Amino acid sequence: MNLRQLAYGMLSFVPGVPDSLYKGTGGTSSAEYSYCIWLRHLVLAHGAGMQAFPLTVGELGPGDSIGVGMAALLSGTQRYIALDAVAHADTATNLRIFDALVELFRQRAPIPDRRQFPEIKLDLPSQAFPLKILTTEQLHAALSDDRIAALRALVSGERRDPEVLDYRAPWDRISDADCASVDFILSNAVMEHVADLPSAYAAMYRWLRPGGYASNQIDFRSHSLFKAWDGHWACPDWLWRLFVGKRPYLLNREPFATHRALAASVGLIERRCARIEATPVSKRLAKRFREMEALDRRSCGGYVVLQKAVS
Ligand SMILES: C[S@@+](CC[C@H](N)C(=O)[O-])C[C@H]1O[C@@H](n2cnc3c(N)ncnc32)[C@H](O)[C@@H]1O
Repeated sequence: MNLRQLAYGMLSFVPGVPDSLYKGTGGTSSAEYSYCIWLRHLVLAHGAGMQAFPLTVGELGPGDSIGVGMAALLSGTQRYIALDAVAHADTATNLRIFDALVELFRQRAPIPDRRQFPEIKLDLPSQAFPLKILTTEQLHAALSDDRIAALRALVSGERRDPEVLDYRAPWDRISDADCASVDFILSNAVMEHVADLPSAYAAMYRWLRPGGYASNQIDFRSHSLFKAWDGHWACPDWLWRLFVGKRPYLLNREPFATHRALAASVGLIERRCARIEATPVSKRLAKRFREMEALDRRSCGGYVVLQKAVS
């Protein structure tokens, strides 16, 4: 058991303890990682049926930077909306990543693989730059000097235009104008953290335009809160409440079946589902996880592409 994390959870009950205790996700702090995550979700969603290039992209939980969204914009996306529970990203990190991303796109660098990011388990058919999806013509326009300068001015905060770059943290509600405005929503290592999952799936559905796609990569492991990858499923509820404390999020501990059922219940159609499996380690699960489906019990990671029906 990670006693430091337990102490953070308990400390969060104390009034006046600063939120900075929970800042930082260890995620999108490099251009290579952001480039990798964007291109992987794009290629996988394309393989699952998303034929049209997404002009409006939404991201749940971008983390330490808006690197994934900047990669989308540099690919030709016209509008990117970032929705985070906590404002982890900052301008200096965003700018550093933006400049490095421009170089990666100019070089049409291959998609980084497990040698660079061993944690990323689901393999792609090819790591080559996806020129069939991001054509030379599209990239030529997307990476013009004028466009890069305009995007950089938005990233630096020198200019503001939420019609191109919209960062909302914390986000809670969807306006009427937001509804059905997004072509592609992605989340990477986020849905396992979301405290109110039914609302998040309902929001995903509302954001998407008819025919739009969502791509979610979910990490079902214990995130080092316990030594065993499945230790969080063995933790009794009373102890878990102390781990979570009053933090804005930790882990919701829901297995894959919950995510798939919630997506289906709001009307999202599953177009692809893939699992990463691992041997269970914890011998005795907490009561409410004992009935978990055998396949979910072995699933330490999941990836799902969803689509909102055309009409
Ligand atoms: C492990 S980080 C993942 C960051 C990044 N996507 C990556 O791949 O590294 C989890 C992220 O989920 C965000 N998150 C947690 N609950 C959320 C919610 N309800 N809505 C949006 N983002 C949320 C956190 O603030 C954090 O940015």
